[in-house]
Amino acid sequence: SKSEPLKVMISGAPASGKGTQCEMIVQKFGLVHVSTGDLLRAEVCAGTEIGNKAKEYMNSGRLVPDEIVTAMVTARLSIKDAQEKGWLLDGYPRSFSQAESLEKLNIRPDVYIMLEVPDDILIDRCVGRRLDPVTGRIYHINNFRPEDDEIKARLITRPDDTEEKVKSRLQIYKQNAETVLSTYLNISKKIDGNRPKGVVFKEIDSLLSRVQKDKEASKSGK
Ligand code: AP5
Repeated sequence: SKSEPLKVMISGAPASGKGTQCEMIVQKFGLVHVSTGDLLRAEVCAGTEIGNKAKEYMNSGRLVPDEIVTAMVTARLSIKDAQEKGWLLDGYPRSFSQAESLEKLNIRPDVYIMLEVPDDILIDRCVGRRLDPVTGRIYHINNFRPEDDEIKARLITRPDDTEEKVKSRLQIYKQNAETVLSTYLNISKKIDGNRPKGVVFKEIDSLLSRVQKDKEASKSGK
C-alpha cells in the first residue's frame, strides 16, 4: 500500500538558502513546493488585487498581513497535487499566529527544518542574489554564476535585497523565529546552512529519507 506523502516545512532567515535547497528537494522527492515569497511575487507581477496589497509590504521588507498570506497558503495546500505528492512549505508560517492558523486546520508537517547561517553572510548573499525570471532559478554574483551570457543578461535583482532592507527583514525574522519554532519543537531539525549547497543538501536528503522510511514503517504497523 502507498504510504502518506511527506510533508515538510523549511525555515530560516532571509537568504539562508531555503529556495536553493527547495529546488534540490523537489527534484529528489517530488514534493509540491509552496513558497509564500514566490506566490506573492507572482501576484505582484500579475498585478492582481492581492499583489497590489502585498507590494508595499514586500518592497519595504515587512511581513504581508496574515489574512492575505494564510488564505493563499491554505488554498494552495488543498489542491490535489499537494495532497497526493506531499508538500514542501517554504516561508510559512512566519509568525506565531500563522503557525496557529495551520494548527487549527490540523495541517502539520512531519519535519521542521531550520537553516542556520551567520548574519554577515546572509547580508552578502542577499545583496549578491540574482533571479532568472524565465526559469525561476536563483543565482549569486560570486557563489553561483549563470551558465551563459544569455541567462546573465536577463537576471534581475529583488527590490527588497538592499543591505538596509535585508537588515530589517532579518530583525523581523529574529523577532518571530522562537515562537514559530515552539509550535514544532518536537519535530524540528537545525541544519548548518553555512556550507556549500551540495553539502547542506546531503544532510537534508538523509534526514528526509529517514523521515519517509519511519512513516512507511509506522504505517505498516512495524
Ligand atoms: P521570501 O521570498 O520568503 O524571502 P526570505 O524569507 O527573506 O527568503 P529569501 O527568498 O530571501 O532567501 P532564501 O532563504 O530562499 O535563500 P536563497 O536560496 O534565495 O519572502 C519575501 C517577502 O514576502 C517577505 O519579506 C514578506 O514581505 C513576504 N512574505 C513571504 N512569506 C510571508 C509570510 N508567511 N507572511 C507574511 N509575509 C510573507 O539564497 C539566497 C542567496 O544565497 C542566493 O543568491 C543563493 O544563490 C545564495 N546561496 C544559497 N545557498 C548557498 C550556499 N550554501 N552557499 C553560498 N551561497 C548560497
